[in-house]
Amino acid sequence: MESNRKVEFFFNKIYHLFFGEKFFQKINFKFDKRNRLDLIKYAIKKNDYKVYLEIGCHLDYIFNEVKIDKIGVDPISGGNFRGTSDQFFKKNQRKFDCIFIDGLHTYQQVKKDILNSLKFLNENGIIILHDCLPSCISHQRVPRTRYKWNGDVWKAIVEIRTKEDLDTYTILADQGLGIIKKKKNTCILDLTKKDLRKLNFKYYYNNYQKIMRTITFDEGLRLI
Ligand SMILES: C[S@@+](CC[C@H](N)C(=O)[O-])C[C@H]1O[C@@H](n2cnc3c(N)ncnc32)[C@H](O)[C@@H]1O
Repeated sequence: MESNRKVEFFFNKIYHLFFGEKFFQKINFKFDKRNRLDLIKYAIKKNDYKVYLEIGCHLDYIFNEVKIDKIGVDPISGGNFRGTSDQFFKKNQRKFDCIFIDGLHTYQQVKKDILNSLKFLNENGIIILHDCLPSCISHQRVPRTRYKWNGDVWKAIVEIRTKEDLDTYTILADQGLGIIKKKKNTCILDLTKKDLRKLNFKYYYNNYQKIMRTITFDEGLRLI
């Protein structure tokens, strides 16, 4: 899936040339050295979690390292459920303690994955998301124009930050690690539906600390 996409990327670049946002400042993130696997392992150990779900497994780098009861969903490779996250959630009847969302990195799909995950998340459980902090516009463009790509996952985080009953943060590590817990939002983001529809990279660039509620890796460890 990841190979031979050069032609597709070329045409997507042409599309963005005409219709895409033009904003070329970059954020120089100083990401922590620890990564998503460190966070997932820590969450499982600290909370004695029993069941893990991963959406988007690819080469099973993370999935193989998780040693509790687990389901891995991917339409192409890895995991143990062959299909998309939508297909999985349609059939699923199980509940999970830790859900790692790392599938299709578009706002609409990630939002759907979060809402579906919440239905099957145990009360003290956690949702972790990868790729929440793109450093430049080319890393977030949808449709995508490159192999190394975060997509616009960040927009789904911003939307979830407006919910009263979900507490959401973004850890400054590994391309941005989102965490969502089912509890009172201690810092509700005040954005209307109209504001959310207008989100663009320039706005993210100027406001990412506030809208994504960025925290250090150690702060993240205390919260999970
Ligand atoms: C970035 S990779 C996952 C990497 C892996 N989680 C890791 O940390 O090493 C994204 C994966 O998502 C899968 N994917 C794409 N669309 C998906 C969807 N709708 N549902 C579930 N997985 C999807 C792709 O096939 C790809 O293997």
